[in-house]
Amino acid sequence: MEIDVFTLFPDAFGWFEHQRHVVGAIEHGHRLRYVNYRDHTPLSAGQVDDAPFGGGAGMVLRVDVVEAALRARYATDPVELRRTRRVIALTPSGRLLDDALVDELAAAEALTLLSGRYEGFDQRVLDHFASDQVSIGRYVLAGGELAAMVVCDAVLRKLPGALGHEHSALEESYSKALDRAPEYPHYTRPAEFRGWSVPEVLLSGHHARIHDWRLAQSRLRAGAAPDPPLA
Ligand SMILES: C[S@@+](CC[C@H](N)C(=O)[O-])C[C@H]1O[C@@H](n2cnc3c(N)ncnc32)[C@H](O)[C@@H]1O
Repeated sequence: MEIDVFTLFPDAFGWFEHQRHVVGAIEHGHRLRYVNYRDHTPLSAGQVDDAPFGGGAGMVLRVDVVEAALRARYATDPVELRRTRRVIALTPSGRLLDDALVDELAAAEALTLLSGRYEGFDQRVLDHFASDQVSIGRYVLAGGELAAMVVCDAVLRKLPGALGHEHSALEESYSKALDRAPEYPHYTRPAEFRGWSVPEVLLSGHHARIHDWRLAQSRLRAGAAPDPPLA
């Protein structure tokens, strides 16, 4: 897979790039690259944003700047690009990222992630260049970089070779393997701590019973009432 992240702050990804599963994915031939809008702006003095028509607070990422960056990277009209490549604009109001969407994205050969800043993108970026709009939650971050890292993290760890243990990404919360239910609980040593014991079945060495117990726990969690809201 090839992932291109468009951002004003490529340096923000320094820590992320050194995470083990990201290194693992890259060692297996997957690629993660960055394009800085500012490097391709057609405006003077590195300008990338402008005041909103109609007034209001904040600045808006310009459509001509985003177009120039996409053209520089793909040498094609971005309006055409989105027909053949998933060009994902990160927006608080987009489709909520969940495991099903991560599976969908992990199956793509290539992804483009557009990170916004300031008040966000000129609407024409979303209307004409993006194939998808994705949100990592119903709250607002200062910029799309953390959202891009969340998408990359979730997608990359699904790719063959990213995780040391091939099965660790299969049976996880909200995965198909668990019928989209939360994962079952895990325990490790010590088996007894402050009177809190590990469920007997996990110490039994009986794989079929352990498997059944885990599935039952996962289903139980799926039906459990959500945590009450904080006062
Ligand atoms: C300060 S936000 C803009 C928020 C926008 N004015 C609004 O109210 O929806 C700047 C950028 O951060 C990114 N961003 C912020 N929150 C996000 C979220 N929950 N999911 C995905 N991207 C987000 C987007 O790329 C957005 O363009």
